[in-house]
Amino acid sequence: MATAVIIAAVVGGGVLFIMRRLFPRQKACSKLLRYPADMMRGKTVIVTGANSGIGKAIAGELIRLQARVIMACRDLRSAEDAARDLKKRAGPEPHGEVVIKHLDLASLRSVRSFCHEIIQEESKIDVLINNAGLYQCPYSKTEDDFEMQLGVNHLGHFLLTHLLLDLLKSSAPSRIVVVSSKLYKYGHINFEDLNSEANYNKAFCYSQSKLANLLFTQELAQRLEGSQVTVNALTPGIVRTRLGRHVHIPLLAKPLFYLASLVFFKSPLEGAQTPLYLACSPEVEGVSGKCFANCEEEELLAKATDGHSAKTLWDLSERMVGLGN
Ligand SMILES: NC(=O)c1ccc[n+]([C@@H]2O[C@H](COP(=O)([O-])OP(=O)(O)OC[C@H]3O[C@@H](n4cnc5c(N)ncnc54)[C@H](OP(=O)(O)O)[C@@H]3O)[C@@H](O)[C@H]2O)c1
Repeated sequence: MATAVIIAAVVGGGVLFIMRRLFPRQKACSKLLRYPADMMRGKTVIVTGANSGIGKAIAGELIRLQARVIMACRDLRSAEDAARDLKKRAGPEPHGEVVIKHLDLASLRSVRSFCHEIIQEESKIDVLINNAGLYQCPYSKTEDDFEMQLGVNHLGHFLLTHLLLDLLKSSAPSRIVVVSSKLYKYGHINFEDLNSEANYNKAFCYSQSKLANLLFTQELAQRLEGSQVTVNALTPGIVRTRLGRHVHIPLLAKPLFYLASLVFFKSPLEGAQTPLYLACSPEVEGVSGKCFANCEEEELLAKATDGHSAKTLWDLSERMVGLGN
């Protein structure tokens, strides 16, 4: 018995040590940002993927800060559960309003119909947070025949942002916040086979889509110069959410992985701090075309700031989603 306990402790300790090397816990914003309680009163914010993980934490904080939050989600029941939970957590203090809207980023038809409703119903949008995302799913296509990760993470948000741009401009000063990932480093834009039809590598495709988020941010910032609409990206770090749902972890390793995630990963609220900073903070007023991590500007690899790739991807994305000439 004692031997078994010693072996378990040694193995467990070893695994945790390896996990710590693999996933050094990035510091969250050194302290959770504290904004005045009514900081977002009168502001309307759209958060995609607000029913879960980082998006839900962003929505919760915005509600606390008295914003009108439009939760743009593909699963309405899950969005309603999340909204109920967030309102309960906001408690008796004055808090903002929640509106739930259906948005499936894997369907351009759904993106168009969501934007149509928003334009009909909302007089202004102060902040758009492109947060929803998919990670390493098995090969599948969106309704419009795009590889799923590129389709949801980049192309769906590309069309969404385009269709809301006039409203964002007429609401200026306004902000667009794009949730990317440090894993962009392991991708490139495969212009020859953007939908990975010849060869699917799920890790590469996630990285490609997150690199696309950064190139999109850069190109859009240039196009928005002088409009008082800013756009910035961020990488949230490693956050304990359901993003890894498609990653297979052997049954026996699951408890250890869970334990390690509690120790080394950020909580969703910690992961939400940089998007909240970009959405709310006066410190980034007028700042555009940058990427942030832990509420500080982050230096990107050259492939994420390459103007030629950004323009080529933009033109191709326009054609794919049926915009432009
Ligand atoms: N967690 C991390 O360590 C980490 C690291 C770097 C970057 N990120 C980025 O952070 C963002 C949020 O992810 P998370 O970690 O909070 O994961 P999550 O808990 O899985 O949340 C992802 C959200 O995206 C939504 N979504 C997925 N496909 C969609 C679609 N077709 N249409 C509309 N919504 C869709 C999900 O809706 P359902 O609940 O209906 O599936 C969910 O609300 C993602 O962009 C991700 O790439 C996360």
